[in-house]
Amino acid sequence: MYSGIPEHSDRSMKGRISVVTGGTSGIGKETAIGLSRLGSHVIIVGRSREKCQDTVEEIESITDNVNISFETADLSSMESVRRLAETISSKNPRIHVLVNNAGGVFSSRMLTADGYESTMALGYLSPFLLTHLLLPSLMAADRARIVNIGSSVHKSGLRDFNFSYPGKYAPMKAYATSKLMMTMFSYALSRHLAGTGVSVSLVQPGFVATNLGKNSGSGLLSASFGIMRPFQISAEEAAKTPVYLASTPDPAKINGRCYSRMKPVETSSSSYDTKLQDELWNRTSETLGLRDITYAK
Ligand SMILES: NC(=O)c1ccc[n+]([C@@H]2O[C@H](COP(=O)([O-])OP(=O)(O)OC[C@H]3O[C@@H](n4cnc5c(N)ncnc54)[C@H](OP(=O)(O)O)[C@@H]3O)[C@@H](O)[C@H]2O)c1
Repeated sequence: MYSGIPEHSDRSMKGRISVVTGGTSGIGKETAIGLSRLGSHVIIVGRSREKCQDTVEEIESITDNVNISFETADLSSMESVRRLAETISSKNPRIHVLVNNAGGVFSSRMLTADGYESTMALGYLSPFLLTHLLLPSLMAADRARIVNIGSSVHKSGLRDFNFSYPGKYAPMKAYATSKLMMTMFSYALSRHLAGTGVSVSLVQPGFVATNLGKNSGSGLLSASFGIMRPFQISAEEAAKTPVYLASTPDPAKINGRCYSRMKPVETSSSSYDTKLQDELWNRTSETLGLRDITYAK
């Protein structure tokens, strides 16, 4: 039976602090369980205090690790992301693992308070901002890891990178575009962080039985995810890859690469285009007001 600890992970995470966004459900929750089993202090992030509290109690009872805590944030709000980063970094001068996992699909185009389309805000702008704000704590830790959750659907993402997604709205196209951005961000970040000791990797989880789609606000979208259940892998199975990337003793091997089902995989050819990555990077940094960031350790 799966013990929550991948075979490849021969390394205890005792004394290491892991932040998992979207840790209350699906892949994020199972990743938190896996990291907790390895002995990490895990901080899960979700929107509801009650749901987070229940999840922490569940993880503690399953794993016998009492070092599980939570922070609440609405990650589609950049103000909330800033408050979260401030809270986490003030309590934790060192963070060893950041798993940018929270994400969603929305049935209609909804703009956030910042004026961004919700899928872009939650699935791309929020991890970009959170990662940058937590970088001092990540760089202060020994061999920290950033693990981003992408998707193979990034291949059909749009390349014009408009964060408000104007024009005709297609939920899966918006989702694919946010995942293309996440993919390109992961590769660009790995380049920027070269020499700092912080590694970056990306996960394509596969088709996983979770609540994704159920909370989309569309009965049709929810039903179509439901119909696919027999072809989906479990969240527990999907979480093996992020847990492996967060805990492997050989971070150089996984740095700047995408993994699926524990193996490195290629992503779309445009995602490797460094000029396009830089264009996206500059546009995002400008949008989020991130200037004068130093990456050297
Ligand atoms: N399922 C798949 O087949 C699949 C395939 C490829 C990639 N992925 C990716 O895997 C990641 C995890 O998704 P999942 O499938 O495990 O879905 P899920 O079961 O719906 O979990 C989503 C998580 O994100 C959190 N979340 C949603 N909106 C949030 C917000 N505004 N602020 C803070 N947290 C928020 C939720 O927490 P609360 O509701 O408690 O706030 C929940 O913990 C996503 O990035 C998704 O795109 C999934």
